Amino acid sequence: MSSQSLLQIAIDGPAASGKTTVARALARRLRVLYLDTGAMYRALAYLALRTGTDVDNGAALARLVAAQPIEVRLDQAAPLGFRITAGGRELDEAALQSREVTAIVSAVSAHAEVRSAMVRAQRRIAGGAPVVMAGRDIGSVVLPGAPVKIYLTASPEARIARRRAQLEESGINVNARKLAAEIEERDRLDETRTVSPLAPAPDAHVIDSSDIDAAGVVDEICRLASTVNLS
Ligand code: DC
Repeated sequence: MSSQSLLQIAIDGPAASGKTTVARALARRLRVLYLDTGAMYRALAYLALRTGTDVDNGAALARLVAAQPIEVRLDQAAPLGFRITAGGRELDEAALQSREVTAIVSAVSAHAEVRSAMVRAQRRIAGGAPVVMAGRDIGSVVLPGAPVKIYLTASPEARIARRRAQLEESGINVNARKLAAEIEERDRLDETRTVSPLAPAPDAHVIDSSDIDAAGVVDEICRLASTVNLS
């Protein structure tokens, strides 16, 4: 079965553009599975911190992920919308979104060795099922045949406000100025890395969510999805 016969929806975009909120709500509305692939890169960053692995050493990170696999189980009822374990330990939002993990995750995700392991795992997870997958390279690399590709963006102000609310909800206190600098730096690293830099797939629908709430974006993606002819 080719991916064109499945309702697979790729949602890419910069940090804090609302991808995870939208992707999760969309998956719930369409009753399909959901995965935020950023959580997998964050899980590897978490493992790197725990084991003292050098984040600039791609080969060492690839060995780490081979030795302590990151496992994902799609489960809409789980607190994150899926379950993720690294080194045998289930990770929650607080662990994945910690300041320490966020500070190194772009460096961890920039290595070709890391990305090829992650892309392989993500394709296997999506394997032949309808799914909503959020990330940076889903429409361009992971699921290039996905019939619906969205590139979700928003103004820096809207993104900072959203990330702040999300972190505070998880009990993480943030300083707005530091958060703005962190988001700007992560954008720069994600957009300028050599392997799969963040960019809209040529056939992606670009949605600017600065002035639309998550429900409005979900409505728009459902409208786009309803125009797709699945074979
Ligand atoms: O979406 P997020 O902020 O949780 O993602 C964390 C980092 O992981 C992000 O800075 C870039 C990387 N990432 C990636 O390179 N490719 C993906 N498909 C998802 C995330």
